[in-house]
Amino acid sequence: MSHSRLTHALDTGALVLPEGRIAVFAPPTGFDLSALEQARVEVVSRFYPDVAYWQGLGYRVLQEPEGHYAVALVVLPRAKDAARALLAEAAGCADLLVVDGQKTDGVDSILKAVKKIATPDHVLSKAHGKIFWLAAPALADWAAAPSDVDGFVTRPGVFSADGPDKGSRALLDDLPALSGHVVDLGAGWGYLSRAILKSDAVTALDLVEADLTALDCARENITDPRATFHWADATQFRPTAPANVVVCNPPFHTGRAGDPGLGRAFIRSAAAMLAPAGVFWMVANRHLPYEDTLAEHFREVETIGGTPGFKVIRAAKPHRARP
Ligand SMILES: C[S@@+](CC[C@H](N)C(=O)[O-])C[C@H]1O[C@@H](n2cnc3c(N)ncnc32)[C@H](O)[C@@H]1O
Repeated sequence: MSHSRLTHALDTGALVLPEGRIAVFAPPTGFDLSALEQARVEVVSRFYPDVAYWQGLGYRVLQEPEGHYAVALVVLPRAKDAARALLAEAAGCADLLVVDGQKTDGVDSILKAVKKIATPDHVLSKAHGKIFWLAAPALADWAAAPSDVDGFVTRPGVFSADGPDKGSRALLDDLPALSGHVVDLGAGWGYLSRAILKSDAVTALDLVEADLTALDCARENITDPRATFHWADATQFRPTAPANVVVCNPPFHTGRAGDPGLGRAFIRSAAAMLAPAGVFWMVANRHLPYEDTLAEHFREVETIGGTPGFKVIRAAKPHRARP
């Protein structure tokens, strides 16, 4: 395995870390932190599957930095506004700011933006990306600001932060008024949930979302007492009682790598949380191959309407979940 940029920077002596606590912001699952002394590291992550991963490895994991750190390492997310917001948060709580990012995640444009404010001590290019560091500059202007889109609060980096997703809109065009106990799987900032709750026949709605920032937006957007908010991994989540309906616009990538497997895991999980007469509604890009997984988990699967780009699927009669 080739050394990570961080390991390389430390091994070559280019980067010398001061004594003290190290906050690592948003390291994805599998990111190489082996060059850092674990006892000094606190992972700051708001994405549930990553939180579970780092906790599983024995790291202390927080959702926000606590106090002051000697070093803040930011693993760059792809969304530019989210990257800036993270840098602002990191620079605000540490002496030394280290930024590590892939070219494809926009490290060059962030470096350029940082250079307009301060001069990095060092920039190291390796493995299709860059790592650079500097005494933490004043980046408060980049701090996350909420937006209002169509009467919903969103924040930088959440899915479709600029307004309702086309696929989600297509789903709502075909979704009938629902009833009973409904689960919104991967609820984001609550676009589908607000529409689902327009039906008085809905008795309870579970919003399940891994991104805590998105879920916090949903809490602001949905004030209906029938709603319950779950910060959880949708592929593992199970409601307290079997659900009558699951509604879902599944993620098809985890932000960095393409992964249709994630959508399939959502389908499996939906089938497992439904009552025997339960119904699953989902929308997907027409080119995404979910049919086999749907057929494996539901006895009835039909495509209802949709748009040229999106298929809206209704699946019913889930097979009994295998133990
Ligand atoms: C395509 S978006 C749909 C969001 C929202 N339902 C909408 O219509 O705007 C999928 C959502 O799933 C979330 N997500 C991704 N992986 C997840 C996981 N393992 N568990 C729960 N939610 C996840 C993403 O953060 C994102 O908000």
